[in-house]
Amino acid sequence: MTAVATQAEKKQLSERINRIEISATLAVVNEAEKLRAGGADLVDFGAGEPHFPTPLHIKQAAIEAIQANYTRYTAVAGSAELRDAIVKRHSLDFSSHYKREECIASVGGKHALFNAINVLVDHGDEVIVPVPYWVSFKDIIQYAGGKPVYVECDEAQGFRLTAAMIAKAITPRTKAIILNSPSNPSGAVMSAADQDEIAKMAHEHGIYLVSDECYVYLNYAGKATSVAERTDYRDRIIVIGSLSKTYAMTGWRLGYALAPEPIVKAMQKLQSQSTSNPTSIVQKAALAALTMHQDCIDDMRAEYIELRDRVVAGLNAIPGVKCVKPQGAFYAYPNIGAHVGKGGTKSASDIAARLLREAGVVTVPGEGFGTREHIRISYATKASEIDRGLERMKKFFAAL
Ligand SMILES: Cc1ncc(COP(=O)(O)O)c(C=O)c1O
Repeated sequence: MTAVATQAEKKQLSERINRIEISATLAVVNEAEKLRAGGADLVDFGAGEPHFPTPLHIKQAAIEAIQANYTRYTAVAGSAELRDAIVKRHSLDFSSHYKREECIASVGGKHALFNAINVLVDHGDEVIVPVPYWVSFKDIIQYAGGKPVYVECDEAQGFRLTAAMIAKAITPRTKAIILNSPSNPSGAVMSAADQDEIAKMAHEHGIYLVSDECYVYLNYAGKATSVAERTDYRDRIIVIGSLSKTYAMTGWRLGYALAPEPIVKAMQKLQSQSTSNPTSIVQKAALAALTMHQDCIDDMRAEYIELRDRVVAGLNAIPGVKCVKPQGAFYAYPNIGAHVGKGGTKSASDIAARLLREAGVVTVPGEGFGTREHIRISYATKASEIDRGLERMKKFFAAL
């Protein structure tokens, strides 16, 4: 069975589900898993997750939660202690001023984003999405009935988004703007001034600003900033956060939103009719992550910077591959446009498919992120794997 439904299958399904596609990154992971099951030796630059194990003190908190029978339903939005911890962590790190009622814990940042978009966006509403975008933005908006309006970021400017670019895309139908800094897939980081300017614009136009800050702690350009640092515009700001990348907890599924109380209440209503609370045990682990020492983040960040420099230098040494230096997250987004068209390839997807099959290197093609000449490389892996993958890519492109 393939992940893509046939026309006959689609007829049986809702119009709503037929509007979206399976996440491009998950599709790659599935394909790689199949090859691996068949014994293939792959270098995995596909997975968007830290290669570090979850820190011990976080795992220990979950074990203790089980032993203490903390295994029942909690409040739909997460326990009071967890919501207080999320709000406090955010306030300590970004000088924000949220209260418990303005916070909801969800089953990952993606879930928080899904809930936020679904309580805000109606049929025909426009949502501004900078390109390249994280794969799920487009589909979540479309699932809600909205229309993504794309704003192209300039590769020559390191894919950096500015307030002026957003201003041009606002129309009377604009309901929300999505920001994602640091960005998946480009690693671009917005300036605090542009973030502020966009928050001000959203406030003045009565538009919501959904700021996906899942990589906010993986900013290598300077001090990490949250749009919620400015309280003046908070009535329009929804911050989406996640413990997945920050604490190497992708499988645990814990994310959150910070937003005005009426929006949090609506998200809570939606969550109460779908997943209910995030797993109780995970909430205890998250509590430990947020309240205990934060050194693990600094350690991981230091390693990511080394890995980034290694992968960017290696990519730029491959003829026909150009890679701007990402300023955050753990992705490189090299331009491989010079190779598209060689060896019968027609697209970045063809290149990625052949890189996987012929060179055993897993990447994600740029089409899923809204660009046609790139592949995404996740460098959250061992340095030796980066070297092995780069070597294979070099040979592959030379022979294409
Ligand atoms: C930009 C962005 N937002 C949100 C998420 C969701 O992360 P999670 O649902 O694991 O918290 C991801 C995961 O890859 C991401 O890249």
